[in-house]
Order: sequence, then C-alpha cells, then structure tokens
Amino acid sequence: MDFTIKCGNPEKQRSACLVVGLFESRRLSAAAKTIDSASKKYLTNILKRGDIDGKIGQSLLLHNIPGIASSRVLLVGCGKEKGLSASHYRKIVTNSINKLKTTGATEAVSYLSELNVKSRDEYWKIRQFVEISHSALYQFNQLKSKNKKSKNKLRKLVLMVPERKDFATGEQAIKDGTAIAKGVSLARDLANLPANICTPSYLADQAKKLGRTQKSIKVTVLDEAAMKKLGMGSLLSVSQGSHQPAKLISMEYKGGKKGEKPVVLVGKGVTFDTGGISIKPSAAMDEMKYDMCGAASVFGTITAISEMGLPINVVGVVPTVENMPGGEATRPGDIYTSMSGQTIEVLNTDAEGRLILCDALTYSERFDPTAVIDIATLTGACVVALGKHASGLLSNHDPLAKEILDAGESTGDRAWQLPLWDEYQSQIDSPFADMANIGGREAGTITAACFLSRFTKKFHWAHIDIAGTAWLTGKKKGATGRPVPMLVQYLIDRCN
Ligand code: BES
Ligand code: MN
Ligand code: ZN
Repeated sequence: MDFTIKCGNPEKQRSACLVVGLFESRRLSAAAKTIDSASKKYLTNILKRGDIDGKIGQSLLLHNIPGIASSRVLLVGCGKEKGLSASHYRKIVTNSINKLKTTGATEAVSYLSELNVKSRDEYWKIRQFVEISHSALYQFNQLKSKNKKSKNKLRKLVLMVPERKDFATGEQAIKDGTAIAKGVSLARDLANLPANICTPSYLADQAKKLGRTQKSIKVTVLDEAAMKKLGMGSLLSVSQGSHQPAKLISMEYKGGKKGEKPVVLVGKGVTFDTGGISIKPSAAMDEMKYDMCGAASVFGTITAISEMGLPINVVGVVPTVENMPGGEATRPGDIYTSMSGQTIEVLNTDAEGRLILCDALTYSERFDPTAVIDIATLTGACVVALGKHASGLLSNHDPLAKEILDAGESTGDRAWQLPLWDEYQSQIDSPFADMANIGGREAGTITAACFLSRFTKKFHWAHIDIAGTAWLTGKKKGATGRPVPMLVQYLIDRCN
C-alpha cells in the first residue's frame, strides 16, 4: 500500500473515490459540505431520502456526482460530531477501508483526518489511518495453492491535511505508521504459520535472517547444549518430549548510545502447546499454534523500531520450544533446577510458559537491562478475566506499568493492570521444591506472574499476558499482531 499526503479541495481531486464523513443526524462534515455546494446540493437531496443517518457503521457509496472530479464519493458514518473519541475514529477508519475493499477503486482520497478527535493531533490521526488500513487489508494466503498473491485492488491512499505546513507531520506519521504496520504484519505472519512449519528452528532461522538484513541487529542463537551449560533445566524440561530442539534467540538492536542500558523484551515462543503429559482437550487445540505470539510480537517490535531507526537499545530474547507428550516428556511431580538455582516442582506440564520464561528472564540479567518486559500467551484465566479487549499487565515497578498502560491507551492496543500482591505468593508453595508451577484455580493469571516475579528481583519488570488479545477465534480467526503497537509506542515514548 502506498500512502501520500496532500491538501486541497475535495471537488477538484481526480480520484476513484473520495472518502468523507457524515455525522449524526445527517450533518455534513466540512469536506462533505464543500462537495454539496460544488454539486448544487446533491448530497443534501440524497440525504433527504433517508438512506443514511450518519451513525458509526453506516456508509453510502455514490457515483458520478455532478461537479465532482472523482468518480465515487464514499460517505462514512461518524456518529456524534462533539467529543469524537479515539476508538470511534478507529472504527470509522476501519469501516471506510472495509467498504473501499468492496468497490472497484484501486486508489482513494480520504478527508477523514479532518475529523476532530478528542485529545489527538494530526500525527496521531494519520499514523492510525496507516496502521488500520494495513491491518484491514492484511491477508494470509501464502499456504494456499491458488491465489497466493494478494487480491486487494486498493493500492494507493491519499490522506488530506488542512494545509501545506502539515506535510512534514503527515509524512512522518506515514513513515512511522508504515514501520509499525510492517512489524504487526510480520508478527501476524509468524503466528498464523502452522506448527509443522513454524518450529523453534524456523524462528531461529527467521531471527538470523533479520540479523543479516538489518545492520543494527545482532542475532545469537543458543542450542540445547549451550542452554544445558548455563543450567537452564526449567526451559529444557519443556522441550524434552518433543523431537524439535529448543532454541534461545537473542536479537540485540543497537539504535541508542553505546553503553546505554537496553530494554529487554522476552517473548514466549511455544510453537505448539499440546499441554504435554497433562494433555489438553482436543477441541480448538489447533489454536495452540498461537502459543508463540509473545515471540512473534518481539520479532515484530524489533523489526518496527529498526525500520524507524529509533534511538534506543533494545534486546529481544525468545525462548522457543514445542510442548509435546512422549516417552521422554516431563511427568507431573518431576522437579527441575532453573538457571537461577531455584527448584521447581512441575505439577502440571501444561503450565509450561512460565518454565521457559523463568530461565529466559534470568538469562536477561546479562544485558544489564534498564527494564525487562515479557510478553506471553500465558493463562486461559486471563481470557476469562479480560476477554479479547485488554491484555493483562503485572509489574514489580508501578512507574513502568504506567508507561506501558499509557502506550496502550494511545495506540488503542490496551492493557489492564492486575495486582501482584505478596498474599498470592503462597499459592505456589511446594512441599518438595522451592515452588510449584501452578497455584490452583483462583487468580491463575496472578499466580503465573507470581511465579515469574521470583526470577525478576534484580530489575524493573513487567509481564504482559496476551492470551486473550493475540489472536481472534471464530469467523475472523487469525493473529492480531498485538501487542506490537503498544510495545513500539512504549519504546517511542522512552526516546522522548
Ligand atoms: N498457552 C496456554 C494458555 C492459553 C490457553 C492461552 C488458552 C490462550 C488460550 C498455557 O500454556 C496454559 O496451558 N496454561 C494453563 C495453566 C494452568 C495449567 C495453570 C491454563 O491456563 O489452563
Ligand atoms: Mn500450556
Ligand atoms: Zn502455553
């Protein structure tokens, strides 16, 4: 998709489709008013027929309006004009792109950035437009034998700004939005790939490829022998039932000053989670190919920030395994020693995410981090608590949590904080080891974070549970690319 910034009157734009807003009840936006006057009240007359009121979700496609140089005009419902919220703006843009997709238009000119969005500026409106368009046009066709190539007709979008002096802002917003969209779409691609293709070795190869193409990224991959030397007994216990060897990937992005402490992002990379000997029920088990969405979000974030050339040091750490049952798999009750020296009684082999993350978190100490954020499809309990709208957030440092929450708020990729109180810690006591890997039925998301908190005492740390947000089920099944937008925004904000 190609984006450009322009300014000028709507009636003069020679395009396949103009996109303009219509508020409730049948109130024309500024661009729509101009079109109305230039067409001798064509819009006013049409609106009298009552085909559209202006509610969000509505749209009306008009052809060959007299006096208008473009062949189509898409009127898009924008709801109430006063106090238009960020989430409404996002909906309006999504609806416009989805409607444009159904037309024959290969390019369009949008006046939607003229809408006044509560507490958001020109940069935000344009960047969101770019990110949302890419997202709405995303397709995963690479494994179909026919129609492998994209079927999208829409190729070019012109985003109108009020004046020439807005060009620089607009162009920056397009650049940043495109970089973030690239990261999101990489995360979605990796996640949507099935587990017979996207194995731990495949992810390691993708990282090496990234390291070869991007000069600012240094990639290292540890194999099982190297991990054994480091004492990663917990991580290795998860992969021992699988024929796929575990890998520990590090991607060091060096955009900041030499010696500046990095932010470390740790992504859960379980390429398939059968549950192991504590095997999962078969219904919807295919979705456990998405158990590497944390890893995918780290790949996506590193890609986006390196595209943007963000002046910051960031390390992506991806522990990646396949969780399978088998003759050599962990039995419930087995005890392992983690890299930290702490011992773990594995009461449920399906609580494997924390077992790989704990060693990756200990490993992260070597980068002398300013903050560590792990991202994981960690608990079904998080889906029950927050559904698909918010990721779960837990942290040992409130200012860090606040920065992440704010980044989520500004990108629409939101998180909600849960408590990490000491009172919950006793739920993972074990009579035989330093801790158990499960904490009972109550507060499953919190006890999972309690487990991780025992490996993150040496740094500021936040944990993002994306079990509910990383992919959609049902008709729109597929990876979302979340929380790449939130993570990139957090890193952008750190640079300012
Ligand atoms: N990957 C799953 C969590 C999950 C389940 C994410 C369903 C999204 C949808 C994780 O490894 C897991 O199995 N967690 C268990 C933990 C339990 C055994 C303490 C869970 O949530 O049931
Ligand atoms: Mn599991
Ligand atoms: Zn899992």
